[in-house]
Amino acid sequence: MGQVPPHPSITILGDGKVARHFSYFFQQKQISFNTWSRRSQRPLEEAIRHSRTVLLLIKDSAIEELIRAHPELSQKTRVHFSGCLTTPLAIGMHPLMTFGPELYPDDVYEKIPFICEIGPERFEDLFPTLSNPVYTIASEHKAFYHALCVMSGNFSVILWQKLFQELQTKFGIPREAALPYLKQVTENLVHHPARALTGPLQRKDASTLEKNLSSLGQDPFQKIYQAFVEVHQ
Ligand SMILES: NC(=O)c1ccc[n+]([C@@H]2O[C@H](COP(=O)([O-])OP(=O)(O)OC[C@H]3O[C@@H](n4cnc5c(N)ncnc54)[C@H](OP(=O)(O)O)[C@@H]3O)[C@@H](O)[C@H]2O)c1
Repeated sequence: MGQVPPHPSITILGDGKVARHFSYFFQQKQISFNTWSRRSQRPLEEAIRHSRTVLLLIKDSAIEELIRAHPELSQKTRVHFSGCLTTPLAIGMHPLMTFGPELYPDDVYEKIPFICEIGPERFEDLFPTLSNPVYTIASEHKAFYHALCVMSGNFSVILWQKLFQELQTKFGIPREAALPYLKQVTENLVHHPARALTGPLQRKDASTLEKNLSSLGQDPFQKIYQAFVEVHQ
């Protein structure tokens, strides 16, 4: 058994979704850490006193402001997990994953890739017991990289939520009826990404595309459908 350090060497700032997931992961990996949030009674200075590394797992727009407001952070290695922010004040390491309110099965966490502004050797230095895949990206490419993540991961959720809601409210069909479709779309994307697209766009079926667009009428999703037709062409 290794020696447990007398003080945590990592402090997690924030108590939102990502802070909760990574607190759980670090517990599993027996990584010693403590936490601080703006709601905690303890001063930040005291919470980070013994830490080498501070993870700023807070809202993107608050990261630089918090660092500037706390000069005591300048002595620490500061890391943030934002996919979009680049700042000279902290190192960006973006976990390529979605983190909702529920925790995930244990084996999910160690497979999460980190897309970093630093090389894998620096990641290893900060987290020697983690074996997550690490990829490096230039700071100037982060906003584009993150736009791709948002479009694929977040926009697709909005489309599926639209289907679930319309099935239920317009046709009285439960969300569960669409789940085999969702699962198969995902499976096809995982196993045959280049052949996963089916439907009128893939078949170049102009008459079906026209009927679909016209059926959407004044629905705000009509613009989205139209945009996809244009992008795909
Ligand atoms: N969720 C994801 O899927 C995901 C994926 C990859 C990376 N990330 C990144 O992870 C980081 C945290 O995201 P999240 O999803 O965990 O956000 P979240 O659930 O909304 O939590 C945000 C946290 O930031 C704190 N906060 C906001 N303003 C603050 C301020 N001025 N000073 C101190 N703390 C402040 C909040 O505290 P209060 O509760 O007091 O407001 C809360 O603890 C972000 O950089 C995000 O880009 C998120």
